[in-house]
Amino acid sequence: MWVCLGEPSQDVPSFPEWNDLSYRKFVFGPYHCHSSGFRVIENAFDVSHFSFAHQGSLGSPEHPEIEDYEVKVNVEGITIGKISLWQPNFDGSGTDGKIEWSQKICRPLTLYQVKESVQGKYSLLFTVTPIEENESLIWGLAAMNYSDGASESDFQAFQDRLWAEDAEIIESQRPVCLPLLSQSETNSDWLPEVHAQCDRASIAYRRWLKDLGITFGVC
Ligand SMILES: [Fe+2]
Repeated sequence: MWVCLGEPSQDVPSFPEWNDLSYRKFVFGPYHCHSSGFRVIENAFDVSHFSFAHQGSLGSPEHPEIEDYEVKVNVEGITIGKISLWQPNFDGSGTDGKIEWSQKICRPLTLYQVKESVQGKYSLLFTVTPIEENESLIWGLAAMNYSDGASESDFQAFQDRLWAEDAEIIESQRPVCLPLLSQSETNSDWLPEVHAQCDRASIAYRRWLKDLGITFGVC
C-alpha cells in the first residue's frame, strides 16, 4: 500500500563526494533496528560512546576524553565539530591515528560525517527510514579519497561490525522514543541520561527536533 506523505519541502540532502571521481564509494546496510530512528541518529553523532562501545576500532578505553567542540544550529541543520579523536582503526583498514571529525545533521533523520586523517577524507551519509515509532531501517553511503588496500567488502564488514555494536546500545535504551527538550527547559530539569559537556550536540538535537514540531518517535 502506498501512503502519500505530502510534497517534499527540501531537496535530497547533499553528499558532494558522491559525484567526485577522486573518491571511491560504497553502500552499506540497510540495518534493521528495534528503536526510534532519532535514537539511531543521536547515537551516530555522539562520539563519546566510541571508547566503550567500539573498542579497538573507533575508540579505546585509554582515550575516553572528548575535547570541547562547537555546535551550531541554523535553518540548514546542526553542525558539530571539528572534534579531534585518536582512533585505533577508524576506517576498517587497521590504521590508527588522530582523526578530525566534522558532522552535520542535515535532516532530522540524516547525518553527514567527514573523517579527516593524514591519509585523506572518509565521508559517510546515514539516513533512517522510520517504519514505526520503535522500528527503523538505516541506510549508509561512504566515500573515501585514498586507498590503503582494503576492499569494498572489508569496509562493508567493518560497518556491519560497528552497527552490531551500536544496535546493542540503541535497542537497550529506554524510553524507546527519544525524549525532547524545549528551549526553556534547563539541563537540571531534564533527563539523567544527558548531563555532561560533551552531550551538547545531543541537547541541541533534542531542542531542534522539538522546535521542528516532531511528534513521531519522540516523547
Ligand atoms: Fe557507534
